[in-house]
Amino acid sequence: MSTPTETVFDRTGEAAPWWRQAAVYQIYPRSFADSNGDGLGDIPGITSRADYLAELGIDAVWLSPFYPSALADGGYDVADYRNVDPRLGTLDDFDAMVTALHARGIHVVVDIVPNHTSDQHAWFREALAAGRGSAARERYIFREGTGENGDQPPADWVSVFGGPSWERVADGQWYFHHFATEQPDLNWRHPEVRADFVKTLRFWSDRGVDGFRIDVAHMLTKDLTDPLPSQAELDALPQDGNHPIIDRDDVHEVYAEWRAVFNSYDPPRTAVAEAWVHPSRVPLYASPKSLGQAFNFDLLEADFDAEEFRRIVTDNLAISATSGSSTTWVFSNHDVVRHATRYGLPRTERGADGRPLHKHGSQWLLSGGTDPVVDTAGGLRRARAASLFLLALPGSAYMYQGEELGLPEVADIPAAERQDPTFFRTQGAEIGRDGCRVPLPWTESGPSFGFGEAGAHLPQPAWFAEYAVAREAADPHSTLSLYRRALALRHELQTDEALEWLETGRDDVLEFVRPNGWRVITNFGTEPYPLGPDAVALSSSDPVEQALTEVPGETTVWIAAR
Ligand code: GLC
Repeated sequence: MSTPTETVFDRTGEAAPWWRQAAVYQIYPRSFADSNGDGLGDIPGITSRADYLAELGIDAVWLSPFYPSALADGGYDVADYRNVDPRLGTLDDFDAMVTALHARGIHVVVDIVPNHTSDQHAWFREALAAGRGSAARERYIFREGTGENGDQPPADWVSVFGGPSWERVADGQWYFHHFATEQPDLNWRHPEVRADFVKTLRFWSDRGVDGFRIDVAHMLTKDLTDPLPSQAELDALPQDGNHPIIDRDDVHEVYAEWRAVFNSYDPPRTAVAEAWVHPSRVPLYASPKSLGQAFNFDLLEADFDAEEFRRIVTDNLAISATSGSSTTWVFSNHDVVRHATRYGLPRTERGADGRPLHKHGSQWLLSGGTDPVVDTAGGLRRARAASLFLLALPGSAYMYQGEELGLPEVADIPAAERQDPTFFRTQGAEIGRDGCRVPLPWTESGPSFGFGEAGAHLPQPAWFAEYAVAREAADPHSTLSLYRRALALRHELQTDEALEWLETGRDDVLEFVRPNGWRVITNFGTEPYPLGPDAVALSSSDPVEQALTEVPGETTVWIAAR
């Protein structure tokens, strides 16, 4: 299978590998396109939309898990790492998809979930059957309970999705799961665990996969020496590389081994870490000795605010410089409220330390999307301005399916149709992530708006018609037309990985210039910002309008080098 190649530039101006400044489009396969009318998106569905992806102008797709799964966590509970869920297709379908995407110059990145398996994985079933003290239990984290009869958990730890993170099995032992009960954590000290993931990485690399997104890359290795600390003690411990379960230095021993695997391919396979760690620790993951690139979620957690955006960009360019990697930018993914909606809500509530008190939009979700009323038009205007800002930054841009349509979050999914374990494990105290995972609208009418021949596995609201691909493709002013134009221009204008801030004389207006003279102005305020005589190449308010004498409020414009 051929692999697409293409030249971009790194910060030194040398020709650089594709991933350093890629536009990567995240596909949540079960919600992208359904080819067989079972209500679930699938791999042939993705292949059938290869032309759409090519026309969008992206460099790569990242597929969220498509592996066999009982769907306790939307596929992040993997039952078999080297197969395709039969509801989503076959390995042959996968190969056909890779061929179709490569033929269009699109790289393929797949999601690897190494911290935990599904409780349906053959290893976990074996561990349950084999009983306490067995070799099979060594691949996971099993422990005796506490209390007189061992009927209390080994520790009072709380799982990321709510509820206890130790679960008791029939013979009385307990196992650890950082996420849902159906996601038992693996024991990364076990040589078989290590060897099996190397096999998985080779399996997909041999099938032509270009790179990997590593799920919760900052977990995996643990030091669970007795006595286990309490949750309060865990929370108080510094995350300095020696924390018992988070962001341990020894995780990079695992990634060093993976790096040797990646580099044994030509071209080397790439990886990007999903690591929710302190900024000072990000370079460890982004290092060329480790995974090579890491997400930074700072823009995703920021409000639409000039000062915040500027600080985040400056800080992250400095951080990436210390690892030698390029940085990444992201506003939306399958875990957060879509940014077109977030920007239509009041600002994030923050504590004294500046950290968000809740995930932005989570309180609004609890109200069923009614309180406060979303400023839909304003949210979209700001989202378009923010996206055009992001797409001009040095480094890689990660986009989430549907954001190119300006798709808002769906808030009114009935409880009976919800799927996210966060909803169930918190007894509805958190609504969870289903609202950004509703299947895409492709046409204005028809069953499931063209997603498939039948229904959709999460209910689509009637207003999805307004955001349908067919409708937006026919409208030169639409968000889809803006993204297509922006991604095409991004290719033409791409340059060395650097930017310089220019003085605007206004706190609510940012301007930067890339090394080749590509200028970007974002007006975060509402007062228009006067422009010089330079011709505007693209404006987020209207991709057609180029004869601008000022930057309207909440708008980004690109000015190409003269
Ligand atoms: C990551 C994924 C999320 C998943 C979790 C557990 O954060 O992005 O969707 O639930 O890991 O695998």
